[in-house]
Amino acid sequence: MTRTTLLDGIFQASQEMGKSYLITHDVDRLMAPCYEAAGLQPKNERYGGWESTAIAGHSVGHFLSAAAAMYAVTGDEVILAKLNYTVDELAHVQSHDPDGYVSGFPRQCFDNVFFGNGDFEVHNFGLGGSWVPWYSIHKIYAGLIDAYKLTGNEKALQVVVKLSDWAKRGSDNLSDELFQRMLICEHGGMNEAMADLYTITGNKDYLDLAIRFCHEAILEPLSNGVDELEGKHANTQIPKVIGAAKLYDITGEEKYRRMAEYFWDEVTNNRSYIIGGNSIFEHFRAKNTEKLGVETAETCNTYNMLKLTRLLFRWTPKAEYMDFYERALYNHILASQDPETGAKMYFISTEPGHFKVYGTHDHSFWCCTGTGMENPALYPRDIYYSDKEAVYVNLFIGSRAVLEDRNVVIKQHTEFPTTNSTKVVIEQADNASFKLRIRVPYWVAGAVTAVVNGTDTFSSSTNGYLEIDRSWNTGDSIEVTLPMDLHVHRAKDDEKKVGFMYGPIVLAGALGTENFPECDIIDNHLKLHHHPIIQVPVLVTDETDLKSWIKPVEGTPLTFITDPVGEPGEQRITLIPFFQLHHQRYTIYWTLMNKEQYVNYVDEEKAEREYLHAITIDVVKPHEQQSEVEHNGQSHHSDSGYSAHAHEGYRVAEPDGFFSYRMKVQADKTHALQVTYFGSDGAVHRENGRVEREFDILVNGQAIGRQRLEAEHREKLFDVLYDIPSELISGAEQVEVKFVSANGG
Ligand code: AHR
Ligand code: ZN
Repeated sequence: MTRTTLLDGIFQASQEMGKSYLITHDVDRLMAPCYEAAGLQPKNERYGGWESTAIAGHSVGHFLSAAAAMYAVTGDEVILAKLNYTVDELAHVQSHDPDGYVSGFPRQCFDNVFFGNGDFEVHNFGLGGSWVPWYSIHKIYAGLIDAYKLTGNEKALQVVVKLSDWAKRGSDNLSDELFQRMLICEHGGMNEAMADLYTITGNKDYLDLAIRFCHEAILEPLSNGVDELEGKHANTQIPKVIGAAKLYDITGEEKYRRMAEYFWDEVTNNRSYIIGGNSIFEHFRAKNTEKLGVETAETCNTYNMLKLTRLLFRWTPKAEYMDFYERALYNHILASQDPETGAKMYFISTEPGHFKVYGTHDHSFWCCTGTGMENPALYPRDIYYSDKEAVYVNLFIGSRAVLEDRNVVIKQHTEFPTTNSTKVVIEQADNASFKLRIRVPYWVAGAVTAVVNGTDTFSSSTNGYLEIDRSWNTGDSIEVTLPMDLHVHRAKDDEKKVGFMYGPIVLAGALGTENFPECDIIDNHLKLHHHPIIQVPVLVTDETDLKSWIKPVEGTPLTFITDPVGEPGEQRITLIPFFQLHHQRYTIYWTLMNKEQYVNYVDEEKAEREYLHAITIDVVKPHEQQSEVEHNGQSHHSDSGYSAHAHEGYRVAEPDGFFSYRMKVQADKTHALQVTYFGSDGAVHRENGRVEREFDILVNGQAIGRQRLEAEHREKLFDVLYDIPSELISGAEQVEVKFVSANGG
């Protein structure tokens, strides 16, 4: 990456925007939480959004990683100055802690874990009384390591060494069992950071710590080829596997490689959407299901999957890895930055007719804002790859790479994907013998041809690499043609659910701005998730050949228009690249059927969903951290989990427990609370007798119903409606909805 620069093209334009976005961030504001955590007076006020919550400080870490990579690929001195200043500031704050601790929240939560009696509080997103502390501080570890590796900043190395020694000394107090217990809570890529630090310093303490940071409950099944991912929080797991991959590089232990390869296969082949992203409400769904929704395909997950993909490619340089990389790079990563403002996206909605929602510059700072800051700097990664045997052209992106070990400079001039070709030029070489391998992507419609110096022609249509083995000299050129065509992506769980692609590019239906929000760049992403939806046409045609009803628009590359197949109303639909679609409604998944099927077609589920959507004021989803956090979830003796039977998250409470949420209300409306239960709940348990499920439901402290569950709807989810008396609502914007155990249930 550090030897590759982007040339003119869509990625360079996006990178420039990403760079400006980075530069406009005020380091003093990013550092404010660290100052406050150390009891110091910050130089400026904190940013808003997540930077004003317990997870704060993650952004300064992402900023460092982003700035380090951006400097490495652009040489921009303003960025370097900001990076050096950030490192100085972190070192300054660190000097106030006797043990070298520095982060955006007080160290108390870690002290509770390290120096308590072992019964520290831990759940998926909480540890020692704080919100995902290792996840947040991991970004500072990674940022400092990147600053050292990519810009040579020695002070960054000193700070991260001290911070790691603090972690080592503290965690030495934990038995292996307690360490694993601590890892129940999301901890980012702490095993990766420690593995990286070991590689840099050779200090075995960090290798030991990297191994201790491997979460066995997740990684062991993967090493045995067992997929237990359903219902697991996706972005918690991916970094653990990246760390395992790094440990394979260091130790050569096969189990680490098996974890990484098996996980990659499962996620990319069985758990991803058309754009290469994964997760719904941040979690992995059942295998081979592409459940659509607004909160799907979290951007951090794809940032991390790309990182993992590159590590695997180094072990086995196969085209399949780069096919996935390309899909996710164009259709998720590039697509998730607003080209006008540089604003970043959290989820990519797959809900037909929804739209992209971006974070504001000063008041969002979601996890994906952080990874989103890093993404544009990373575009040059793996366009080329060079090993002992060969030089690989993996991605068709305008760029120039200096391959020092071979004394070769290689370039690509291309307008791909606007055109279906690229020109590879050897800018410098002196009789350099190597195999040039040009990727033959899975999507090519016919043979890829490569014409060397206008004379020798090579071609291949087999997914893999087209190899040209010869001596290369300055001025050699290779004209590569990559035939592109329309093709369909069919969801594995419903063959009528389809998306359209042209080559590697996902095409989105451009559905305009009917009923569009005033602004789609917003502090709190959840606010727009329940925005009115629109009627998206069903596609009805008897044609089986896509090209006979989806036609290119003359003079506008990568744009297509359909025959009048959109029903109701025989509408024509315009399709454009998803990465180019911003600030309007879209669909990337359609319902496609023939005329006979359409005659009897009634989408009851959709009608029900739309009806519910129209009358819904607020929704909370138990077990899903964003949803619970945003609704100020409170609980006592309560637990949450994911039911593989119900395919949903749940929350339960002990006989003396409760849980509650704050939910929105609207003065002028009549309210009811709809609760979804699992129909097997309250069943007679073979060994323990009945599982008592009895509880009161309170709104602002007043009971609106008592519920007893007696397994009346085995294996099914069912809903119960409770009316909320209007006097409980009057004048309020929110109410507390509380579930309290009753009768020992
Ligand atoms: O919990 C921290 C991050 O926030 C998670 O990794 C991401 O999924 C979430 O939204
Ligand atoms: Zn995220």
